[in-house]
Amino acid sequence: MKLGKFFNSIAFRISVAIAVVIAATTITVGEIILKEERETLEHELISKGRYLAELLSHNVREPLLNNDNKTVLSIIEGSMISKDSLIVYADVYDRKDSLIADAYREQRYSMPLPPFNLDKSLTDVEIKEDADLPVYHFRLPVRSDAAETVGFLRLSISKEPLYRTLADTRQKIYLIGAAIIFIGIMLGLMAARKILKPIIVLNEGVKQVGEGELGVEVPVIGMGEIKELAGSFNKMSVKLKELVDAIKAAQKNLVRTEKLYAVGEFSAGVAHEIRNPLTSIKMLFQMVKSRKETMSPKDIEVIEKEINRIDRIIQSFLAFARPEKIEMGEVNIRDVLDDVITITRPKMGQCEIRLEQTFPVDLPRINGNYDALKQVFLNLVLNAIQAMEGRGGTLGIESMAVDGAISIVVRDTGMGIPEKYLKKVFDPFYTTKKDGTGMGLAMTHNIVNDHSGSIDIDSVFGHGTSVKVKFPI
Ligand SMILES: Nc1ncnc2c1ncn2[C@@H]1O[C@H](COP(=O)(O)OP(=O)(O)O)[C@@H](O)[C@H]1O
Ligand SMILES: [Mg+2]
Repeated sequence: MKLGKFFNSIAFRISVAIAVVIAATTITVGEIILKEERETLEHELISKGRYLAELLSHNVREPLLNNDNKTVLSIIEGSMISKDSLIVYADVYDRKDSLIADAYREQRYSMPLPPFNLDKSLTDVEIKEDADLPVYHFRLPVRSDAAETVGFLRLSISKEPLYRTLADTRQKIYLIGAAIIFIGIMLGLMAARKILKPIIVLNEGVKQVGEGELGVEVPVIGMGEIKELAGSFNKMSVKLKELVDAIKAAQKNLVRTEKLYAVGEFSAGVAHEIRNPLTSIKMLFQMVKSRKETMSPKDIEVIEKEINRIDRIIQSFLAFARPEKIEMGEVNIRDVLDDVITITRPKMGQCEIRLEQTFPVDLPRINGNYDALKQVFLNLVLNAIQAMEGRGGTLGIESMAVDGAISIVVRDTGMGIPEKYLKKVFDPFYTTKKDGTGMGLAMTHNIVNDHSGSIDIDSVFGHGTSVKVKFPI
């Protein structure tokens, strides 16, 4: 599968959708956890700060009372020596609000603290967040044993350790989230492929049909609507093939019919056919004229023969070009065939042709015109006899009823038709016989059409021909 196609596939999209949902859930849950953790940590930091402030306040009380400013400074400096110490700034004021000592851990924490309201009435720790620095500010009174305020202590503690912990947690959550997305896509892909397999198979089938491979069927797998769809697809595919075959057959007939009605072609054909006998008659007359004789009985006989030929050609042309409206009725094909056999039997005898007949006991009747149908089978039987003339053979006539139709096959062991002429035999005026009109099969085809039937010819050159006619019951 090409990469672009893969990204476009439903399987991929479904798995991405699943993964996105999982990821969104993971991140939301992660953020909630982070928020709670932050609150807990802030709370912890504040109580630690409060503890440190109270401890420091206790430690500076004695030196403050003794006016030992040096000790006060060393105590507050000492409180932030340790690298892990949270205290980043501290200062101490005396009772009269004058600065006794101050210390900071880093330059950036050295900036003066926001102005505190050095409220003398302050009895407990006061806590503030800084607007710019990541610190909490604490202020509290330094009190003597007699609960008397002797000064004030201010200190700032860093939020950085808290931030570090939060950043660590966040990183972990995102890593887990990414892993879940990846696993989600993989699992989703696997699941989607499994679910979509019937659709993929169906899709292949549709593609094949689209490429003209009609009649393909896909395995009916999957469940529910998909399974139903596969079944319907198979039905459709088969029906489509039937339809297209029917259209093709109809088209073939249409082309032929169209050809038949091309009057120009007929007229040219007729003119051509008539020219030969006319020329012989003309030549005879000229000969008689130049000999200055009366006509001999033989001449008259020739002329009569040629005139008959012209008459035959014109008759069949007229019958073909302007077929009389035929009246339909119930016809027993068996009677028709019996009639045809009676007429042609003497000719078969002359040509040493053996007749093989297969009839079921009762053949259903069809709707048709007796004389027209007789014409059809007379043409076919005569063609068969003519094909075996001078060489003998077997003429087979088989009839049978097959699903809603009856079919009659006229078979001979005559000379056959070369394959390249098979298409032409139904064309008007196509003949290979000296006295032929070439109208027999053309008319036969037309009559069969009028009976909503079909006609097919099969032949092996040098071995024989079989013509199959089918009529609906
Ligand atoms: N059973 C057959 N065996 C061999 N050729 C045949 C057979 N039926 C028809 N044909 C060929 O088809 C041509 C056309 O037949 P048809 O239309 O009946 O005209 P015609 O019999 O007057 O020639 C014939 O001339 C012959 O070449
Ligand atoms: Mg014929």
